[in-house]
Amino acid sequence: MEKIQITLNINDKLCEVMVYHNDTLLEVLRDELDLTGSKESCGEGVCGSCTIHMDGKPVRSCLTLAMEAVGTKIRTVEGLANGDELSDLQQSFIDHGAVQCGFCTSGMLMSADALLKNNPKPDEKTVRKALGGNICRCTGYAKIVEAVAHACNPQDDCPDCKTDSKVRE
Ligand code: FES
Ligand code: FES
Repeated sequence: MEKIQITLNINDKLCEVMVYHNDTLLEVLRDELDLTGSKESCGEGVCGSCTIHMDGKPVRSCLTLAMEAVGTKIRTVEGLANGDELSDLQQSFIDHGAVQCGFCTSGMLMSADALLKNNPKPDEKTVRKALGGNICRCTGYAKIVEAVAHACNPQDDCPDCKTDSKVRE
């Protein structure tokens, strides 16, 4: 089997890469492009740790062929921050203690970011539904749900939100 050259639009950059026709997008991101924020856990579409955005929608990159991504806009967790400045969602995960081992975090962030783009004020039930396909084995989910719900809407009665610079100002 021979590799072929494809061009992928990843985090607003065009990347030329040689792939086998059966390479997954996750393999290409991690092994060829050194974008290792997306994690492989189950490798079969169950855990959500490999979630990225394809044309703005959350997608399992372990189940997506790299060839399928040609002509789409891919965003990975590396594309959430603006340079050294974390997104509000990323900062909220830190402020709310929503990261333990971190293995699920990039997938959680990508699913949550897609939700917040469409619904910046989600209630708890909506957040839990949006993250229903993302498994975390450490946190018990409560802190993650809180971090997402409060990312764009810091709450006065939340001690973790009070550590956020936006609320302190
Ligand atoms: S590694 Fe892709 S869903 Fe688990
Ligand atoms: S923080 Fe460890 S799996 Fe979620």
